Amino acid sequence: MAASFEDLLARPDLVWMGQNTTHLDPPAEVVQALEQSVRDRDFQVYAPPAGFEELRRLVGEDIGLPEVQVWITDGAVAGLYHLCMTLAPTISRVITTDPGWPWPGRFLGRTGVPLSALDVYDTPTRTLTAAQVAEVIEPRSLIYLIDPLNPLGSRYARAELEAIVALARETQSLIVHDCTYRHFATGHSLVAELYPEGTFTTYSFSKWLGLAGLRLGAVIAEPQLLSALTAVPANPLGAGIVGQRAAIAGLKVRGPWLEQVRRVNRANIERVEQVVADTGFGEVVVSPSHGNFLAVDVTATGLHSETVCDALLAADVFIRPGTYQSPHFGERFVKVSTSVPPAWVERFAAAWTSLAERTRVTV
Ligand SMILES: Cc1ncc(COP(=O)(O)O)c(C=O)c1O
Repeated sequence: MAASFEDLLARPDLVWMGQNTTHLDPPAEVVQALEQSVRDRDFQVYAPPAGFEELRRLVGEDIGLPEVQVWITDGAVAGLYHLCMTLAPTISRVITTDPGWPWPGRFLGRTGVPLSALDVYDTPTRTLTAAQVAEVIEPRSLIYLIDPLNPLGSRYARAELEAIVALARETQSLIVHDCTYRHFATGHSLVAELYPEGTFTTYSFSKWLGLAGLRLGAVIAEPQLLSALTAVPANPLGAGIVGQRAAIAGLKVRGPWLEQVRRVNRANIERVEQVVADTGFGEVVVSPSHGNFLAVDVTATGLHSETVCDALLAADVFIRPGTYQSPHFGERFVKVSTSVPPAWVERFAAAWTSLAERTRVTV
C-alpha cells in the first residue's frame, strides 16, 4: 500500500519529487509577509469572501487576463470542486484525458455526470485533439483541459484549442482550462482569450510559488459566468488570510522569482533526462516537458510503475506511479517532479541508477 503523506512527512530525509510542489528556498519577501501576518495576528479574522482586491488584481495581471474577474479559493482544487458541484445539474458529460488529474471527473461522477477520459498517452501530441472531442461531445458538455498536462508535461497548441473551442461553441459546452502549471510552460495560450463567454480558468499558488500547504488558488472567468459560482461560494468566509498575504508578496516579486524557479526546473529536467538516458532504464515520455515534472515510461524495464516508486521510496526518494493519474496506462510510467534543489535530483539520480543496476542483475 502507498505510504500516507503523514508517514512521508515524518521522514526528515525524504526527497519530495512526487507532488509537483516547489521546494526551493522561498522568496524572502514571502517569508517576511508570512511572519508579519502572524505577528499582526491576521489569523484571528476572516478574509473578504472573494479574496483581497489587491490579490485578485495581481492574479488577473499575472495570468494575462486583467479584465476578467478573479475568485480566490482554498487551492485550485476547492474552486474546481465548487464549480463541478454547482454546475453539475446543467452538464451532460465531462470530457477529459487519460492520463490526467482525476478529481473534477470524480466530483462530477458523484452527481451522476458521465465521464469520457480519452486516451492521450500514445497519441502524437499527447494532448486532447478536437477530433477526439468531436466523437463524444454532446450539448452542454464540460471539457476539462489540463494545460500543461499533469502528468505528461505536454501543452496544447493554439490551433488545437481553437478547434476545441469551435466544438464547445457549437454545443453550448463549457471549458475549464486548468492552468496550474502555466508558469513553467513556453508558448502557452489561454482558452479564455478564444472563448471568454464559456471558459473558466483555474490558477494555483501551490506550484510556481511553492505555497501548497497554504491552500490558495483561484477561478477566473467573465463576471456573468463567475457569478454562477460566487452567488453562493464554497468559502463565504474567505480563503486563509495569512496565505493571501504571502501570495500578494510573491506576486510582487514574480519576475525574478519565476526566472530562478524556471531556470532550476529546466536544468533539473535535463539532468533527469540524462540519468534516464545514461542508465537506459525507462524512456522519457514528453521532451521537453512544459511542467515542473516529467513522465518516464518504465514498460521496457519489466517493472510495474509502483514497484519502481517503492524501490525509490526505500532510498527516501518520493516519486509518483502513473496509477494515481491513469486507469489505462498507469502501470507503464512514473512521474518525477523537478522544481526542487539540484541536490535532491542527485539523490534521485543515485537511487534510479542503483535500481537500474539491481534490475539488470536480476533479469
Ligand atoms: C492539474 C491540477 N489541478 C489542480 C491541482 C490542485 O492545485 P491546488 O494545490 O491549488 O489545489 C493540481 C495539484 O496537483 C493539479 O495537478
